[in-house]
Amino acid sequence: TQETMNFAGQVAIITGAGGGLGRLYALELAARGAAVVVNDLGGSVDGSGSSATAAETVVEEIKAAGGRAIANAADVTDEAAVNTMVAEAVEAFGRVDILINNAGILRDKSFAKMEMVNWNKVVDVHLNGAALCTKAVWNVMKEQGYGRIIMTTSPSGIYGNFGQANYGAAKAGLWGMMNTLGLEGAKSNIHVNCIAPSAGTRMTETIMDAGTLKMLAPENITPAVVFLCSQAAPTRKVLVAAAGTYTLAEMVETQGIHLAEGDRTPEAIAANWGRIADRTDAEPVNSAMEGVAKLVKAMANA
Ligand code: NAI
Repeated sequence: TQETMNFAGQVAIITGAGGGLGRLYALELAARGAAVVVNDLGGSVDGSGSSATAAETVVEEIKAAGGRAIANAADVTDEAAVNTMVAEAVEAFGRVDILINNAGILRDKSFAKMEMVNWNKVVDVHLNGAALCTKAVWNVMKEQGYGRIIMTTSPSGIYGNFGQANYGAAKAGLWGMMNTLGLEGAKSNIHVNCIAPSAGTRMTETIMDAGTLKMLAPENITPAVVFLCSQAAPTRKVLVAAAGTYTLAEMVETQGIHLAEGDRTPEAIAANWGRIADRTDAEPVNSAMEGVAKLVKAMANA
C-alpha cells in the first residue's frame, strides 16, 4: 500500500512556475496542501522581456482550486529581489520547506558561433540563479532542521547535447552544486536532489516533432518532482524522467589500475587504457574525500 503524500503545513518556493513544468509542480503541491510561492519573471524562452501576469495567473488557478499561494516576479539573477522573495514567503507562511530551482532559458548555438554574452546569460539564470535562491533559503532551512531542494538539471547537462555548451555547462554545474550541498545539508535534514526532465513545453516545442512531444507530456514529470519534495526523498540523486519512465543517473568510477613508481608514463596509460576504462565493478564514489581514499587504498593493495 502506498501512503498519500501530503504537504499540509509546508511551504514551497518554485521558480519559473508561471508556465511549463513549474506551473504543474505548483498546482500539484498546492493541491496536496502546501502553501506555494509562484515565482516567474514572465519572459520569453530566450530570457528577454518580463510580465508579472504569468505568476499571477497560476496563483489564481491555485486559489480557485482552494489552495494557498502568492505570486512573485523576481528575476532569479537579482540577489536583492530573491532575498525579498524569501522574506515575503516567511512573512506570509512562516517557513520554507521546499525550493524547486526550475527557472530557465535557452540560447542554443554551436560553440563556434556562440557569443559569450549568450554563454553568460544562460549560466547566470540556471546556475547563479539557483545558487542565489538556494543561498536565500539555506539558513532558514538549517534553522528549521528541515529542507528539500530540487535542482533542475537536464540530459544535456549530464550527457551533452550539440549546440548547448552554455546550457549543458550550467546544468552540469547544478549537479555539482547538489553533490556538495547535499553533504553540507545532511545534518540539518536538508536533502538536495536533481530532476532531469524531458518534456514538451514551449522550451522544446520548436526542437521536437509532434509525435515525440505527445509522448513527452509534462504531467509525467510532476510525480518525480513531488517525490523529491517529500520527506521520503533521497539525497544527492539525479532522477531522470520522461514519457512515464523514471531512472537514476549516477557517475561511477572504474576500479582502474595501479602503476608502480617508475612505470607511470603516458605510454603505460595508453597501453592500459582498456583496463582503466573497464566497467567491471565500477561504482559510484560518495565524496571527493572517499574518492581519494579509494585511490590511496589501491596503492596500498598494489
Ligand atoms: P518554460 O520556458 O515553460 O519554463 C521556464 C520558466 O522560467 C518560464 O516561465 C520563464 O518565464 C521562467 N524564467 C526564465 N528566466 C527566469 C528568471 N531569470 N527569473 C525567474 N523566472 C524565469 O520551460 P520548461 O520546459 O517548463 O523548463 C523548466 C525547467 O526545466 C528549465 O530549467 C529547463 O531548463 C528544464 N528542462 C526542461 C526540459 C524539457 O524537455 N522541457 C529538459 C531539461 C530541462
